[in-house]
Amino acid sequence: MDTKLIFGDAGGDSTPMLAVFAVDLAVGKGAEASPQLLTSSSDLADAAARALGPGEFKATLGETALIHATDGFNAEELQAERLLVVGLGKAKDFSLDKIRKGAGTAVRAAKARSVRELAIAFPETDALAGSSITGLSARLTARAMVEGAELAELDWDTYRSDHKDISIGQLAIVSKVMDEDTQQQIRAGFREGLITAAAQNFTRALVNEPGNVLTPTVLGARAKAMCDEAGLACEVHSSEKIQALKMEAFWAVAKGSAEPPALIVMTYQPAGGVAQGAPVLGLVGKGITFDTGGISIKPADGMEKMKYDMAGAAAVIGAMHAIARLKPVVKVVAVVCSAENMPGGRAAKPGDVVTAMSGATIEIVNTDAEGRLVLADGLHYAKTLGATHLIDAATLTGACVVALGVLNAGLFSNDETACAKFEQALAVSGEQFWRLPCTDDYRERITSEIADMMNTGKNRWGGAISAAMFLKEFAGETPWVHLDIAGCAWNEEKKPWIAYGPSGVAVRSILEWVRSYSAE
Ligand code: BES
Ligand code: ZN
Ligand code: ZN
Repeated sequence: MDTKLIFGDAGGDSTPMLAVFAVDLAVGKGAEASPQLLTSSSDLADAAARALGPGEFKATLGETALIHATDGFNAEELQAERLLVVGLGKAKDFSLDKIRKGAGTAVRAAKARSVRELAIAFPETDALAGSSITGLSARLTARAMVEGAELAELDWDTYRSDHKDISIGQLAIVSKVMDEDTQQQIRAGFREGLITAAAQNFTRALVNEPGNVLTPTVLGARAKAMCDEAGLACEVHSSEKIQALKMEAFWAVAKGSAEPPALIVMTYQPAGGVAQGAPVLGLVGKGITFDTGGISIKPADGMEKMKYDMAGAAAVIGAMHAIARLKPVVKVVAVVCSAENMPGGRAAKPGDVVTAMSGATIEIVNTDAEGRLVLADGLHYAKTLGATHLIDAATLTGACVVALGVLNAGLFSNDETACAKFEQALAVSGEQFWRLPCTDDYRERITSEIADMMNTGKNRWGGAISAAMFLKEFAGETPWVHLDIAGCAWNEEKKPWIAYGPSGVAVRSILEWVRSYSAE
């Protein structure tokens, strides 16, 4: 999709489809919907009157109404063949994320109708003076629009023979002419949106790949190719180095597979260098390219989903892609631990005891709790590479999905400042993470009679917390944020603004968290 930004009158240029946002001003239970367009253009308002008049269109989030020029709006004043009114929901709930979803809805509505070119009017919230909508940052609005549109454009039918090329050719985001300062803000947000969406779509493409295509070796090669292109340093190691580094926890998972593991290390160094003592951020990703459970094998039902058990790794790789292009003034090292978790004659067995790179001993009670094993060594290794602050992303536990469902991912931390920075990043990313505890009183959950700790909790209760407690041992005193994205990495249900399939969750939030440490 060729996406451009235009300053001028919405509808001033000819376009096959012009999309405009609407919110519902109604307040109170049972109140009749009162849709209001987010534009000050009377041409647009006149043209949309037919859709808004009869009360059918309620401007709920993701709702659309399509009016053709031939159906009666004055096409001469409005150079559009069709007008698409896109609902963003209640005015009182208005947010950047509604704009992101609205832009996505416009793109997917166009795609569904084989319209290959569209324009979306930049929302003018001042059109609603006096209502509860207050001005959102122009920069973040532009960014959210581009993100929503670019993410919505993709469908994951890559492997279907009847895959149809119905992608949008051209998208124009049309803002009315503003003062130079605001236009500059919109341009900056537009550029950022293109970068973040490209990174997230790169992540989604990795997560979409089946386990037979995307082995740890292939994940390493894709990360390396991205880094070469983006100007990042990247090293990809395998079995020998993992054993040489004494990463016995990582190796215990990797050794059961015929596919060699990959230890991927990516480094971003700001061009001007950084001050002595400045933070070094360590990003760590779980990259299990397929999780059978190992000897503690999973039931067959639903096991095919375990191809996305590398979504944390993909999020970290995607975030590095955006970091390379947005160039924050902070050093970042990323460590991805990638392996296939398989049963077999060489696989780790329940009861095995291994010594992690940190020196801590682990009793492997369940080989299906493999994510925390590879991350234990990944987190420790990131520290040896100089990381002063850690963040990890992992499809770590089914228990997190039981606890939070698929709308919020799990957030854990041992440090209030690092966690607060992450929570502030959510306001920009629009992603939903919900904090769960990992206080020291939970430590006894993973106490083993045999070794320093075991890789499962004493029983199933609070399984996401037990996993976090395990990782916390390896973060040690280093400020650390842990993201359990098991429930959010794959969209099981398509929405008006996003396709079924890989979501790319965590890329945008990790990126904003990193930017919050930038010295600039
Ligand atoms: N990869 C799974 C977690 C998962 C579940 C990811 C659902 C995505 C969707 C993880 O390796 C796992 O199997 N965890 C076990 C841990 C248990 C054995 C302590 C689980 O959650 O059941
Ligand atoms: Zn597992
Ligand atoms: Zn797993």
